[in-house]
Order: sequence, then C-alpha cells, then structure tokens
Amino acid sequence: MEHVVQQDGCPRVRFTERGAVTAQHARRVLSRNWTGSSTVPSHSLYPHQWSWDSAFIAIGLRHLSALRAQRELETLLAAQWGDGRIPHIVFNPAIPHEAYFPSPDFWRSTTAGAAAGAPTRTETSGIVQPPVHALAAWLVHRADPGASWRRGFLPRLYPRLAAWHRYLTERRDLGGHGLVSVIHPWEPGMDNSPCWDGPLARITPAAAHSFRRADLGHGAAIDRPTDLDYGRYVRLAADYRDRGYHDHGQAETAHPFAVEDPGVNSLLIASEHALAGIALALGRDPAGHLDRARRLTEALIRRMWHPDMGQFLCHDVRAGAPIRERGVAGLLPLIVPGLPGDIAAALLRTATGEHFGLGGSARLVPSYDLRGPAFDPHRYWRGPAWFNVNWLLERGLRQHGHLERADELRSAALTAAAASGFAEYVDPYTGEARGTRDFSWTAALTLDLLAEPEGGTHR
Ligand code: SER
Repeated sequence: MEHVVQQDGCPRVRFTERGAVTAQHARRVLSRNWTGSSTVPSHSLYPHQWSWDSAFIAIGLRHLSALRAQRELETLLAAQWGDGRIPHIVFNPAIPHEAYFPSPDFWRSTTAGAAAGAPTRTETSGIVQPPVHALAAWLVHRADPGASWRRGFLPRLYPRLAAWHRYLTERRDLGGHGLVSVIHPWEPGMDNSPCWDGPLARITPAAAHSFRRADLGHGAAIDRPTDLDYGRYVRLAADYRDRGYHDHGQAETAHPFAVEDPGVNSLLIASEHALAGIALALGRDPAGHLDRARRLTEALIRRMWHPDMGQFLCHDVRAGAPIRERGVAGLLPLIVPGLPGDIAAALLRTATGEHFGLGGSARLVPSYDLRGPAFDPHRYWRGPAWFNVNWLLERGLRQHGHLERADELRSAALTAAAASGFAEYVDPYTGEARGTRDFSWTAALTLDLLAEPEGGTHR
C-alpha cells in the first residue's frame, strides 16, 4: 500500500506503509522546527538558522512543500554579505543572547563586518559553511518546476549563488592551488574532527573566563568538544572579527588556521555542476561553471588524493603538508560528478574496509577512522556517524553506479534515523542516539531517502 505525504503543490511522493510512519514523524519534526521563514536545526542546541543545515533541510522539505523549501534558501540568502559570503548562522532576533554562544554581540557583524558588506539589519556570524546551496536550489527547483518558475525562484537565486562561489574561489584560495581553504574548524562543518588537532594546536586559546559556553546546557559534555578546543575556536573567530572579517590574499595570509578540506571542495564542485544546470535552465551559457568545476576537480585530485591511503586528505596550508588523519571528508569526493572511476572504486574499498566499516562492522559510516588513535564513538565529529554525511555518500555511491551499496546504506540510514528519534548523530557501531534529538537535517534527509526508488540511479 502506498501513502501520500504532501502539504502544497509539490509532486506527490509515495511511501510504503512503514516509510509513511517514519515520514509522518519526520514531517512533525520539521513542522515543530519551522519558524515561519526558516528551520532551526534544533530548538535547544541550535536555535537560529544555520547555513549548510538549511541546504540539507531544503532538500528534504521539497518533498513536503516546494514553497517552504524555497523560503528556507531565500531566507538564508537574504543574509548574504556584499562580498558574496553566506554566513554560517543567521540570528533570530527573538531568541535571547544566552540561548546560544557565540551570540550576535560576539560576532558584531553589522559593525565589524561592515567593510565586507555584512547586512545592516540582520545579525549573522562572519564565517561560512560548506557550499551545498546551489545543489539544494537545483534539487528544490526540479521537485516542482512550475512552482519555482511562478515565484521566479531560480532567476532570484542564481546571481547570489554565483557570487557565493566567486567569494570562495577568489577570496579563499589561501594556498594558491586553486582550492578553497577554511579558516576555522566550524567552516567545514565537522567542528571537532581530529583532522584539526594539529593546526589547532598552534592556536593560543582564549581565556576560559572570557566566554561562557551555551552548548553544555543542552548536550552531554562527553559528546561535545572540550573547553580547550572551545577556547581555540573563540580565539580564531574573535581575531577574524577584529580584522574586519578581511580575507587576506594568499601571499600575506594572516589566517593562523588555513586548511584545504576535501569535503568543502567536493561540495563546491557538485554545486558548481548544479549551477551549470541552473544557468542552462535560465537560458545562459553554463560553460564557465563547467570549466570551474573541471579545474577544481583537477586541483582536488592533484593536491589531496593519496593513493597510498585510498582516500583524500586535508592539507594544512600553514604547515605546507597533508594532514595524515582519515576523516570522512576524505571520502566525500564520491559526490563529484565525473570523478575518475578508479578513484571512485578506491574510495569504495576504503569505505568498506577496516577504517570506515561500511557494510561490515559499522552500521553507518563514521565521521573518523574506526582505527584512528583519536577515535571516540560519542564525541562530536571524532567518530559518531552523521546523517548528512551518510546521505552524501549514498548519493555518491548511486552516482558512480554502486547501486546495491547505495541501497544498503540508504536502508541502514533510514533504520538508524527512525530508531534514534532523528538524532543529531549516532554511535556508528550500535546506532545509539547521541547529541540532540528531533534534529532537522536528520528528519529532512530521511524524507529524501524515503522518496527515492529502490535501485534508482539518481534523484
Ligand atoms: N557547530 C558549531 C557550534 O557548536 C558552530 O556552528 O556552535
């Protein structure tokens, strides 16, 4: 029997009976987390709008409401800075400052970010998150092209998305190798990954008494970053703010933390391909986007592919050396269209081997090497499995024709999401819920996986 879950003019998505129950729960989570113009990742831990969260949320929302999915992205992009950056948080003025740290009075975007073109009436953070937005916009459009054209969704978003990609490629190529660098561990979205331990160790932490964490009031301390790491996050963000959020050129890089991350760059490439699709739909020439995607892909392989490790590695720009830790970001190039088949096959071998355990010892792909010295199945990005990462890998496997593997991963992710109450992340071995529950991207990506036909090649 098939069930229909739908709120407005979206094409009807049919779920199996079991899927329909999960879909109803997921829809309830997304409704509760909707604020009227966007979705909070979690009312307790993350009570504002987050950049890459909103992109993943829109990808799921498109199955419920094309309008809400479009609004999610439009609200985020309304807070874009004049220099093209999309801030990682857009603050809701109705939420008290104590609810989240660092709050607007820490970032001071309207004043400290003025020279970089921060919005004058909306408070935001000043750092960025991975560029999943063009991919999300393209998927949202394709879910209901009629509703999209009626609202002029693509014509309004295209220039903003193009400016965002220009910001990343022109202002953030700190290594000078044609790749984007992140300047804070929060930017690649995998905040506490052991990959950052080396570069972060060079940073003098802010004094413990100079700030007050809000996250420990909502999450277990053993799941969250340590105070020492937090002191370093605060130092990096405060120094960037005090430099007016200025991105120095590669020669004069003043960023004490500068890392090229394969996850960020792969998502940019996937999004650049999506932007080519959007350009074509708008009757424009997509060649510039395809050319940029090609150049980024070449640089990604040249600079970050390590055949001896069977995966991509982050590159520490300040130290001028690869970071020899197996973070899951090193598998995310699977999402890159046109990645050479031998590299995709090697990534699959690594994913299914002892370090990531896909289809073997792990239920879902962990955020970090199961065999790594820093592995911790519970602590933020140091081992737990995340649903957005597993969604990306599922999509990548499907794209490269590994349909059975993709189907297995999809099924494991759906089981873990439903059983964990749409947890923020889970223990990769047991599927036990960790972090916060009713997490928006977990619910949204569950809907997206449910909407996919078994054995399908793409969605
Ligand atoms: N994820 C980071 C936090 O814990 C930054 O967005 O607040």
